[in-house]
Amino acid sequence: MLQTVSDLNDLRYYGKKVLMRVDFNVTLNDGIIGEDYRIRMTIPTIEYLTKRGAKLILMSHLGRPRPTTITTTAYLSPPDGNYSLAPVAKRLSEIVLVNKVTFATDCIGSAVQKEIDDMHMGDVLLLENLRFHREEEENDSEFCKQLASLADVYVNDAFSTSHRKHASTYGTPKFFDTRVAGLNLKKEVEYLSMIKDKPKKPFTLLIGGVKIKDKIGALENLLPKADSLLVGGATAYTFLKANGLRTGNSPIDDEHLPWVTNALSKYRDKIILPTDHIVSPAQDSPSVSLIKGDIPDGMIGFDIGVETSQQYSNGIAAKRSGTIFWNGPMGLFEIKHFANGTIDIAKTMALAYWRGSKTLIGGGDTLEAMKRAGVSEGEVSHVSTGGGATLRFLAGDEMPGIDILQKE
Ligand code: 3PG
Repeated sequence: MLQTVSDLNDLRYYGKKVLMRVDFNVTLNDGIIGEDYRIRMTIPTIEYLTKRGAKLILMSHLGRPRPTTITTTAYLSPPDGNYSLAPVAKRLSEIVLVNKVTFATDCIGSAVQKEIDDMHMGDVLLLENLRFHREEEENDSEFCKQLASLADVYVNDAFSTSHRKHASTYGTPKFFDTRVAGLNLKKEVEYLSMIKDKPKKPFTLLIGGVKIKDKIGALENLLPKADSLLVGGATAYTFLKANGLRTGNSPIDDEHLPWVTNALSKYRDKIILPTDHIVSPAQDSPSVSLIKGDIPDGMIGFDIGVETSQQYSNGIAAKRSGTIFWNGPMGLFEIKHFANGTIDIAKTMALAYWRGSKTLIGGGDTLEAMKRAGVSEGEVSHVSTGGGATLRFLAGDEMPGIDILQKE
């Protein structure tokens, strides 16, 4: 069973150094943080631990920087400042109620040790981006040892990076006798296990976005339990092509066309596809039209049409779905005239929530789409912090960062 921070006696934290993996992989533009949901989701665990007298050391990655030259003690070349977690430390200091939040300019080494020696109970120290060291992604054992030497207790509150077998998620916890899950990680596992193992019926899946490859494992696991799968986004055009429709110049995932064809024949009665589309010759073209059925050559589908949007909304609302899982926008919602399908679905999801359905959304794009529709996080039963991790969990794949917490 997954042990969490609240399962341990408070004395395990009093005056102790706690090393916690978080996922502060947020979007940064010129040092300005975009959506900060992943930061806010860690507040409960941060405040739980600091209130109990822990000296809390947080570690995270940010983006995919090119790692600096190999060394486990210090950087040999300067890390790329665009990937620094310094702005995150600042945001964190504005939103958590703790004694003090400080930032360390590396994640290992003597300067970090000095910062930790200076910490008082209830203080928080955020370490610099783990991926500035190539040993993080290589799960290098010497690097793991150095991270582990920083603290007495290990906590993982980073569900969204628990599918990675990296030093901070997998190698480092092995060095701790006490390694537990944070409150956010526990919540993610509970909600997603409900979807995976015993979704309340009727169970509706709503899949959009682009990459079919990433969704196949989850769909294989969930389709037998689902009552319906509503398909939108770029994913829909591959389904429509497999169904014998003309899709014009819309993006088609030829590699996974055979899988889609097979899924359609196996679950024909469950899979529902768009019947009309918002099309244009190019995403920046002023010529935008609504068409039904086949998409002519030279046209690209960028959103589901009005009829489809209505049909999907009815499918969600009229059946009073017990559970709805939504992953991926219905269209290119970043562009105003291709956003309506996604906005309609987001609003329907909120209504379904108020009517008592369990609604779950996964993937950063989907959260952003909901916000654009004016739907708040409070109008969804659960917003998963994970993109890839959520789909991997639902596929029943190995989750090294969670499995290691449960090993003897
Ligand atoms: C994510 O954004 O999905 C996680 O932070 C993992 O990031 P990664 O795909 O770069 O490992």
